[in-house]
Amino acid sequence: MQTQEVAMEEGIALLDQLVEEYGDTQEALVEILRDLNDDKGHLTREDLAQVAERLRLPESKVYAVASFYTLISVKPTGKHVVRFCEDAPCHVAGGAEIWEVLEQELGVPFGETTFDDQWTLMPTSCLGTCAVGPVMMVDDDIYGNLTPDKVREIIARYREQDKGGAA
Ligand code: FES
Repeated sequence: MQTQEVAMEEGIALLDQLVEEYGDTQEALVEILRDLNDDKGHLTREDLAQVAERLRLPESKVYAVASFYTLISVKPTGKHVVRFCEDAPCHVAGGAEIWEVLEQELGVPFGETTFDDQWTLMPTSCLGTCAVGPVMMVDDDIYGNLTPDKVREIIARYREQDKGGAA
């Protein structure tokens, strides 16, 4: 069987599993999209169409929800996804400076992926840890009280890990 067909069948199996877990109503939409995204890294148009069909919703609605939530991606992302909180409490705590440092350090503007597909830099709304702003999330890990030096250290640590060095 072709690799693409296998991937599609696996995707359908996972969707079946998620529908069983969360139900097939509109209320389950965000959970299903989020879990699918966690498994696949990002959601394709085919994924969204399958979800729409299973939940009996218009594709346009499923796409609108998927593109609204910053933890769900509708385009391919890099190996690591950096989500930086752009809400007011983090901004007031020094977020503007960190925003610039992230763009400089990764070499891409927000919303983009590096040419080597290693990093995607995204703005996000509140990550729920405002007391320790500015805050960013790298993959599933949250980092707070960010300073320019701390950001550089964190990024360097991931780069080192990727090279096979110690974290
Ligand atoms: S405002 Fe940034 S984590 Fe809440």
